[in-house]
Parts: sequence; structure tokens; C-alpha cells
Amino acid sequence: MCGIVGYVGDNKSLEVLLGGLKRLEYRGYDSAGVAVIGADGTMDTRKRAGKLQVLVDDLDMRPMANGATGIGHTRWATHGGPTDRNAHPHLGDDGKLALIHNGIIENFSELKNELVESGATFTSETDTEVAAILVGREYAATGDLTEALRRVVQRLEGAFTLLVMHVDQPGVVVGARRNSPLVIGLGDGENFLGSDVAAFVEFTRRAVAIGQDQIVTIRPDSVVVTDFDGNSVETDEFEIAWDASASEKGGWSSFMAKEISEEPEAVAKTILGRVHDGLVDLKELEPLGPDALTDIDRIVVIACGTAAYAGMLGKYAIEQWSRIPVDVELSHEFRYRNPILTPRTLVISISQSGETMDTLMAVKFAKESGAKVLSVCNTQGATIPRESDAVVYTHAGPEVAVASTKAFVAQVTALYLIGLELGKVRGTLSDDEIRHNVAELQAVPDKISEILTVSQAEIGQLAHWMTDTQSVLFLGRNVGYPVALEGALKLKELAYIHAEGFAAGELKHGPIALIEPGQVVFVIVPSPRDPDSLHPKVVSNIQEIRARGARVIAIAEKGDASVLPFADEVIPIPLAGSLFEPFLAVVPLHIFGMELSAAKGLDVDQPRNLAKSVTVE
Ligand code: F6R
Repeated sequence: MCGIVGYVGDNKSLEVLLGGLKRLEYRGYDSAGVAVIGADGTMDTRKRAGKLQVLVDDLDMRPMANGATGIGHTRWATHGGPTDRNAHPHLGDDGKLALIHNGIIENFSELKNELVESGATFTSETDTEVAAILVGREYAATGDLTEALRRVVQRLEGAFTLLVMHVDQPGVVVGARRNSPLVIGLGDGENFLGSDVAAFVEFTRRAVAIGQDQIVTIRPDSVVVTDFDGNSVETDEFEIAWDASASEKGGWSSFMAKEISEEPEAVAKTILGRVHDGLVDLKELEPLGPDALTDIDRIVVIACGTAAYAGMLGKYAIEQWSRIPVDVELSHEFRYRNPILTPRTLVISISQSGETMDTLMAVKFAKESGAKVLSVCNTQGATIPRESDAVVYTHAGPEVAVASTKAFVAQVTALYLIGLELGKVRGTLSDDEIRHNVAELQAVPDKISEILTVSQAEIGQLAHWMTDTQSVLFLGRNVGYPVALEGALKLKELAYIHAEGFAAGELKHGPIALIEPGQVVFVIVPSPRDPDSLHPKVVSNIQEIRARGARVIAIAEKGDASVLPFADEVIPIPLAGSLFEPFLAVVPLHIFGMELSAAKGLDVDQPRNLAKSVTVE
């Protein structure tokens, strides 16, 4: 939440900051602002409530001086509403220092009281302004911007990334981070800071991740990283694996449309290089230790939202293939309920952004409790993989639309690879069984492509007919259940309508009371080919709701004639083994959520009240 950019270099700060904020806007879009030290040595700030475009339009009408030093911010409001005054940057007492912030300063109230007593006046309702005034005063006392920020961060509680610049220090931007993201971009005669690499990938693909409780000072020709006590620290440079075009919309109507079209590639790239001779080879698990995979007696998956639904699917596959019990927990519930963890527990965290604060806190807690932590993550240089013992990266590429789509299928792919690796190492799967499942996984991308080609227009039409629908239910059994939950979440966040996902077997224990004539119900129907399939039970469930007037939209295997008499619409999906059906069943639901949002004239990529990277608890 909140996107941050900092720049020192040529006289082009505004281009860098606005370009970076555009690519970071998915992190928050309540307001945006910039501060630049112009060529004449004066500092100017401009900030506006609303999306970045409001600020851009304002700058078009009333241009501000460009310069070689600048910071920029796009906000997801926490303390104080989304107004011009609460937008960042905030200034110190004397107006000479500008500061931007991502996170929450939990002790801001007592610091504010102290500052008010000492004569400070506040112009906003934010927690951030406290930090701006404190750093401004420390700079006045020390004349050293890095030292000033260091002194202040020692006093702050909570989570923060802070960037500061001072009019008397052109060519310098200083950043600090605790539990919020910050990455350095290394240029030639210029350097960058950003909440993630998207901030500067247009200008450089050389990046350095900054660790917890560290401070970085960038100048055009130098980058210095120290800890909060001033000791220098080692840093690791990495190359950004994608270029700026990957985070552009291209010719698509929305980022989400583009990202759904990339689902086949997200699965294929996540498998790439991890299969040899038909068997899974996950070298990334080695840092867990030589016997870790045979020693563990339990797995706990922690994640939030869509990532947690991916985790639920991982549970079915990992338990089936490795016979290790798997619990799936929402990170924020897990963290605050004193869970039982032992050195034989493997905690698997799942996070597209790698920055979700709830999951980060749960990861730290799990490590402190003695468990090993493996993260599944889509973002290089992110905090969660850095805090984990090992990481399996999903290679979905940058996901910009706030609602997760391609990252979901990539997360499920990574979890299935982990399940197959565990089955191999623990001897619960034969080589033939592994090869069979690997072949199923490798066949997924083409099958998703088939759905995108065959069904997209039809689903779009369905969505157009349903713009007045007030409530949609989703039913599934077994691996169809997490898919139902995912379908419902997409509809809530994208189309702003009531939507619930249920385990179909649970229906008669209460939710069936919701069914009245015309109620739309999506049903994920398992394949009838599998002898253990729950197909007959799901067909019975369809009949039960149909008898009560529900309008049924079935997502069923191609050629499954048994659902035709009971469904109002059938969306066919290609044939696949039971565990692999979710990869296919979820795609029509992603498309439906997007199409309904678009048909209602809503913002598909930036739904209200949300932000992509949830960096507050
Ligand atoms: C829903 C969605 C969210 C995220 C959740 C976790 O479409 O995108 O529910 O899945 O906020 O985010 P990450 O994966 O970044 O930890």
C-alpha cells in the first residue's frame, strides 16, 4: 500500500517520478504527490487527491520546475482521508524538508503531542507529518540528512518506508525501511529508490534489495547502505527478470485482461527449468537443510485472499502426493492465536507481492517459533522471501491489476511442484506417478489457452446480461471449493456485488435458504470420468437448487451431457485429471469477474478501497 519513488541524477526528476508512480499506482490510488528540487535550488511540491491523472492534469495546467532530485508518492489512505492536505509529500516545520511514507507509525499520537507542546503546527491528519517535522528538526540540529533520519527512525514504532530530501542537500535522497518495502535501482550517473522495481525498470534493470532496519543514501554517483546504528551492511545486486514493457498495458483494455491472457504463460514459466527427465527437480528447497523434507511431519500454509485459496488447492495436492498433513490458515488469524509449531513443521507462505504485512508478520512469528519457512512468491527482492529459509519463485511476471489472476495459477503450479518434490523425496509417489502428474501440469497452459480462445466472448455476453444482478453464489466440492471461493472474491472486489462461495455439501446445512427464484449460482462440476469423482453428488446439488428456482451456470468438462438438463448455461472446460481441473475452472470465473466489472462501467484494474500490496496489518 502506497507507492514510493525517489530519484537523483539528471534534470528529469518529474519524468522519472510520474513514470514510476504510474507503474506503482496499483499500490494505492487515493492521492498522489511529488517534490522536486529545481535547477535554481528551490524545492517545489505538488499533491492532489484522486488518481495520479489528477496530479498529471494539474501539472499540465500549472507546470512546475523540473530538477535533478525528487521524491513521489501514490497513497492508500490510513490516517486521514484522501484529501489534498493529507497527500504526500509532507514538509518539515521550516518547509525545507520533504518526506514520503508507506506504512503506519503506530506511536504517532504521542510523538504528535510532544511536537505540539514544542510549538509545531500540523497541516494534515496523517501520522506521516510527525516524521517530517521530526526529521526536519534533526536536520536543523545535525546538518546531516542521513543522521537526521537515523535518529528519527529509532523513535518510530510500526511499519514504515520513509524517503526524505532537503532543499539544502540537492542530489541526495535518503530512505529507511522497517517492515515495508524499498528497493534501490542502480543507474549510470543516476540512482533510484522505489517500493518495488516497477518504479524504475524503465531506466535500469540493476537492482538491490534493502534489508530490514536499514538506511540508504543515494547520490548520482554513489549508494551507501547502513543499518539503523550506522554500521555498513552487505547488499546483493540482482537483475530484474522482466523489462518495462511487461508492466505496460499494451493494446489491452485493462491490465486484468492482459494478465488473464498471460495465465497459460504464468503456469508454463513457473514449471520451466524445474522438470528433468519428466521428474520434478526443485533445487530451491535445498536451503531448508539436507533432511528437512523427510523430517517434517506437518505443513502449515499461510496466506491471505486469493493466495490462501491457492494454498487450499496446494493442500489437496500435497496431502495426496506426500501424505503429509497440511493446514491452511489466513496469515492474520494464524499469527495471533498461539499456534503449535515445532522444528518439524514446515510453514509455506504464499504471496504474490512478497510484502503483505499479515503474511510477513506470520512468517517472522513462525521463524521465531522454530519452524522452517518456505515462501512462494512472485516478486524478486521482496521482503517475505528475504525473511524465509527458502523460496520458490512463481514466474508470472509483474501483476499490475489489483485483483490477482495469473499469480493465482502460478501459485497453484508452484505448490503442485512442491507436492511432487515431496512425494519424490519421501517415496510416496513412484517415478511413473510423478511423470504422469508432471505431464498433466505441463498440459495445463494449452488447456487454459483453449478456454481463452473458445469461451471468452460467451462469458462476456453472460456478464452483459447480468449487470443488474445483486447476488451470485458459487458452489464446488473438493478442489472445486477453493475455486468457488476465488470466483466469489473476484466478483465482490471487481463488480461490488454480494457473492459467496460454498462447499456444495454444506448447502443443505444452511445456505440453501438463500436460494430463491432467479438466484444465480455458478457450480463447478467435477469430471464424471474419475471413478472417485464427486460428480453425482454435485449433480444432485444442482438439482436441489434448481428445484428451488436457482439459475444455474455450470462449469463442466467438455462433453459432460449429464449437466445439460439441469443447467441454464454450461461453460465447457477441457478434460484434465481431478487435481488439475481447478486450473481450468477458475479461468471462466476470472473472465466473468472482469467482464461484469467492465459491463457495469467500473474500474477493472483499480477497484474501490483496495490496493495491491497490503503493507499494513
Ligand atoms: C484478490 C487479491 C488479494 C490478494 C491478497 C494477498 O484478487 O488479489 O486477495 O491475493 O491480498 O496478496 P499477496 O499475494 O500479495 O500476499
